[in-house]
Amino acid sequence: MARPRVFSGIQPTADSFHLGNYLGALRQWVALQQTHDTVYCVVDLHAITLPQKPAELRRRSRVAAAQLFAIGIDPDTSIVFVQSHVPEHAELSWVLSCITGFGEASRMVQFKDKSAKAGADTASVGLFTYPILQAADILLYDADQVPVGEDQRQHLELTRDLAQRFNHRFGKTFVVPGPYILTEVAKIADLQDPAIKMSKSASSPQGIIDVLEVPESVRRKILRAVTDNEADVRADETAKPGVTNLLRVYSALAGESVASLEQRYAGSGYGTFKKELAEVVVDAFAPIRERTEKLLANEAELDRLLEVGAAKAREIATKTMTRVRDNVGFLPAR
Ligand code: TYM
Repeated sequence: MARPRVFSGIQPTADSFHLGNYLGALRQWVALQQTHDTVYCVVDLHAITLPQKPAELRRRSRVAAAQLFAIGIDPDTSIVFVQSHVPEHAELSWVLSCITGFGEASRMVQFKDKSAKAGADTASVGLFTYPILQAADILLYDADQVPVGEDQRQHLELTRDLAQRFNHRFGKTFVVPGPYILTEVAKIADLQDPAIKMSKSASSPQGIIDVLEVPESVRRKILRAVTDNEADVRADETAKPGVTNLLRVYSALAGESVASLEQRYAGSGYGTFKKELAEVVVDAFAPIRERTEKLLANEAELDRLLEVGAAKAREIATKTMTRVRDNVGFLPAR
């Protein structure tokens, strides 16, 4: 029997992925390779919804792909590609935008946040239609499951709505996908402000830990992470959000339950706890950094892997688009 399909994407908008990306999404991308047919995409078309410098975008797309391979995405098992290499994404996005309500798109909270930050006059139409392109990404590959963090839930709901609406109007065309969101790691908080999520755009450098960060800096940031005035290492979302976040990170990386960590660090204070957590993070990220550097040293090979990935992706995407064109009523091209 065919394995269920997974699709997910990540933006090449930073020099490194961060701890929130890693725990909220990327680790699941790796794990799902065991049980699912997996398709992963570096979404450069999404990246340009905010201004990007061309040379930087190109470099960051390679850095993003290298990190995916370095964390354990296997190019022989998964399809890994860059979104702009498969033109069907933009094509399907157009078709879907024609069945999306203006009001419906206006309700997307990420657009509201991002456009407020960019300033209403500078926010682009592309930023507004961003979630429709995301729906196209997912629907092109007949994905059953989409591993993401909590901040993507609303976009996935829109994707489901659009898939169902299209199927209803034009006949069964798309698989209706479901979110794959792990509660404990779905929203990793900023180390300096545990009320907000760790984010490349909103976090201060002190609040964010990069996957490619040097160990010394990782240690410093964890030791300075905001906690509270007590001294017990105990999870309590409302009273102790900082400590709770650190416990979640520790638990996810070490594979030890929060309850067991609470017991282990009972009475030892925050210093020891943070010091040991810092080593857990360093041990997890140091090998990824090394492998990423090696992969980036051989650009030709990296580009070749992405070319192979794009060819495989395109094979699936063109089939879906043939179905879409036919069902919508476009005249076949000769
Ligand atoms: P992006 O590039 O912002 O983030 C990549 C993934 O990381 C997750 N994430 C987090 N998870 C937990 N805690 C955090 N603090 C945290 N910060 C980020 C995100 O939820 C995401 O899963 N719109 C998407 C990219 C995209 C996509 C897709 C995803 C484009 N097309 C199709 C899935 C399917 C985005 O901006 O992710």
